[in-house]
Amino acid sequence: MSSLSVNSSLIKDSAYINGLWCQAESGRTIKVFNPATGDLLGQVPDMGPAETLTAIEAAHSALTHWRAVTPKARGQLLRRWFDLIIEHQDDLAQLMTLEQGKPLFETRGEVLYGASYVEWYAEEGKRAYGKIFAASSSDKRALSIQQPIGVVAAITPWNFPNAMITRKIAPALAAGCTVVVKPSEETPFSALALMALAEQAGIPVGVINMITSSQAVEVGAVLTQDSRVRKLSFTGSTRVGKLLYSQSADTVKKLSLELGGNAPFIIFDDADLDAAVAGAVIAKFRNAGQTCVCANRILVQDGIHDEFVARFKAAVEQLIVGNGLAPSTTLGPVINQAAIDKITSLVRRAQAQGAQVISGGQTHNAGPLFFSPTILTQVSQQMEIAQQEIFGPVAPIIRFKDEAEALAMANDTPYGLAAYFYTESHSRIWRFAEALEFGMVGINESILSNEIAPFGGVKESGQGREGSSLGLDDYMETKYLCMGGIR
Ligand code: SIN
Repeated sequence: MSSLSVNSSLIKDSAYINGLWCQAESGRTIKVFNPATGDLLGQVPDMGPAETLTAIEAAHSALTHWRAVTPKARGQLLRRWFDLIIEHQDDLAQLMTLEQGKPLFETRGEVLYGASYVEWYAEEGKRAYGKIFAASSSDKRALSIQQPIGVVAAITPWNFPNAMITRKIAPALAAGCTVVVKPSEETPFSALALMALAEQAGIPVGVINMITSSQAVEVGAVLTQDSRVRKLSFTGSTRVGKLLYSQSADTVKKLSLELGGNAPFIIFDDADLDAAVAGAVIAKFRNAGQTCVCANRILVQDGIHDEFVARFKAAVEQLIVGNGLAPSTTLGPVINQAAIDKITSLVRRAQAQGAQVISGGQTHNAGPLFFSPTILTQVSQQMEIAQQEIFGPVAPIIRFKDEAEALAMANDTPYGLAAYFYTESHSRIWRFAEALEFGMVGINESILSNEIAPFGGVKESGQGREGSSLGLDDYMETKYLCMGGIR
């Protein structure tokens, strides 16, 4: 990493527990590679159950003090962290492009997006109101107060190495909780850089602890089984989310799970086609298709199908594939070889079932982890590619006849994270939005996420909400106080 222009105070090759930058007890490390070039970027400690327990102990010891700090004072520390993130936004963006691959314009956007949660919760922590209820009898009064839930474990993914951390830590800290975070082993440097800035901001010792590890199963088991951890917040696959859910049963932890998606992107005959094409390119190819809210299937009504396909193809062929550090790049690599293998086999199986590749369809000559932006037509809802989360730059297009068929196809999935539709009909907007079984719906809009809105899914896409005032509630418990003897 020394050859890069990233501020050296942000490049950390140690984890952070109880205010100390430390290595794994075993001395083991994880190698981190640049997915665009295959270059080794550096190494971080490969910690296990012992260090996870130390981090829980640190978070537990810090809790008594931190929960007693006033929301205003906690907010001031969060605000200082926000200011430092903004001051170092270019360093953080460059670091993220290096280890995650997405183009600089996207990593710059993510750093601001991530920071917006810190700024929002610096304010929102002061708005954790209790309630006074109508008295049930004349000698009693009933009220409730909101209190921090306690120690929180946060397990975060590689696709948003910055924002998924701030979206969890900022509300947790604002609520008065302390945290143990395990970032993805694919992208630990962005996480550790955020940690370095939190330390500089003066967040007290033990309030945030960050462990780096490739031993997800072992670390997950400690975090879920320890009764001092009162809440687990996880963003990642539905498969792992279900495992953590079942492992959390013994200690009855509160859970926030932001899991997989299978977002339909639906375009009706009466849509503004220019807006729909532009929206579909963003919703599909943002982060090389590696977001949980990415359009996974594009459903187009018969009357505009051919026109949409022609315009969409022309727009997709404008994407510039390459190393995310090049200013002109609009589509970077995917994260690793396993992702390339999965995407390739989904495309091949769809072809074998009758889908037509009209653009892309294979890896790109920019390097082994680049996949060409791909469009498939003649896809049916029954094909595996329309049922599974692709997590890559592949757009399967499915035709539909009418609104009823579009709705049936859209809801035909165990997932329920995000859905999008484009129409100019005022009545259909309400009717269709209410009938979709998804936690978030973009209506003539393809970018849903921001700090003021509740992000989260239904069905097997998870539970809990991040962002907005609901995101703060998820880190708090309601305590009912019953006062008697009132004369
Ligand atoms: C995700 O893919 O997990 C998050 C996407 C977002 O925040 O927009």
